[in-house]
Amino acid sequence: MTTEAIVDLGALGERFTRDPYPVYAELRARGPVHRVRIPEGTDAWLVVGYEEGRAALADQRLSKQWRNASPALGVHQVASGTSMLSTDAPVHTRLRKLVTREFTPRRMQQLVPRVQQMTDELLDTMLARPGRASDLVESLAFPLPMSVICELLGVPFLDREAFRAWSNTVVSSIDAGARRAATAEMSGFLTGLLSDKRKQPGEDLMSALIHTADEEGDRLSGEELMGMAWLLLVAGHETTVNLIANGVLALLTHPQQLGALRADPGLIDGAVEEMLRYAGPVETPTYRFTTEPLDIAGTVIPGGGELVLVAMADANRDPDRYPDPDRFDITRDARGHVAFGHGIHYCLGAPLARIEAAVAIGSLLERCPELALDADPQTLDWRTGMLIRGPEALPVRW
Ligand code: HEM
Repeated sequence: MTTEAIVDLGALGERFTRDPYPVYAELRARGPVHRVRIPEGTDAWLVVGYEEGRAALADQRLSKQWRNASPALGVHQVASGTSMLSTDAPVHTRLRKLVTREFTPRRMQQLVPRVQQMTDELLDTMLARPGRASDLVESLAFPLPMSVICELLGVPFLDREAFRAWSNTVVSSIDAGARRAATAEMSGFLTGLLSDKRKQPGEDLMSALIHTADEEGDRLSGEELMGMAWLLLVAGHETTVNLIANGVLALLTHPQQLGALRADPGLIDGAVEEMLRYAGPVETPTYRFTTEPLDIAGTVIPGGGELVLVAMADANRDPDRYPDPDRFDITRDARGHVAFGHGIHYCLGAPLARIEAAVAIGSLLERCPELALDADPQTLDWRTGMLIRGPEALPVRW
């Protein structure tokens, strides 16, 4: 057991939300496992550093099932239904198998022309604005991934703003009451959506998931369809929005790197990997609960449903894995980062997210040769909570 006093991350307030990296690095210097109180008010075990973090992400003794959470934690499942992120093998294996074929890199590659078209339209609208200035989150980073995932799943355009507000509250609010209310609203919306799709199937993924069965005739239950719709819609946009925003912010605050990318647009894929490593949008992944005592580098985390969080943001900045880790360098070999997680829950949407970020950022730079930040980076407001990391808004001018 650790003898270290609990580290109250919530008490660090703004300082931690704005720049959590030095806080994690300080903890890492003391060891890989720490007892912390997270901003949501719950006590957890935080794993920092690359080796231990990566191993914990793939450790199947850590359960994703909420019923394995210790009641003493007082945490409750935020999403509705049963999904890949709330199940362990073998249920998880089954759910993932039913949807994996829709998200292969080859399948995603076919979406490139449509992603490019949507990006071009959004940039046309942005560049037509008076004053040559805009909030990039509003103009591009949010609408692109949201439009792509809505089109893929067949969700009508008009619901997006409402969905955005609920989804933002569910993943980033540290107020449990607000999260519960937004969850109820979103569940109501998704129930209606699924019922409409049952009555009037379209050419979209949601209709396919309702009606198709795999080779063994396996189908998704109502609970599982709800979980799948919820997960794909939320995971499909919340993350990529912040990859685009964090990535552009990193470029605009590192003029040499921006210059290098402008000089050789072919560097974009490597640049996106470095953005994922240096400023990934998922700071700590979704909750994991112990099912038995777990010894990590000599610290034993008790069994019985303790909450374990992996600081992926810190794993990606561990100097033992990446030399000079706090340096943003689009030409470094950033592969091996854990921004998309690791193990059986490795992000299903990684190929899509990479395409969206490369197209959005590549096109933005091409269309705006004089793109610049329109705010002091120190004054940006950041999303609260430890799950998602990204600015609320990113003012730019061109
Ligand atoms: C930059 C963008 C993205 C990042 C950084 C990201 C990150 C992650 C991470 C870290 C996990 C693992 C969570 C855990 O182990 O607790 C995950 C899982 C997942 N992501 Fe993503 N994601 C991104 C985009 C997307 C997109 C665009 C989609 C859907 C189209 C998506 C769908 C999923 C799904 C379904 C899972 C659960 C997989 C499973 O449990 O087997 N993600 N993502």
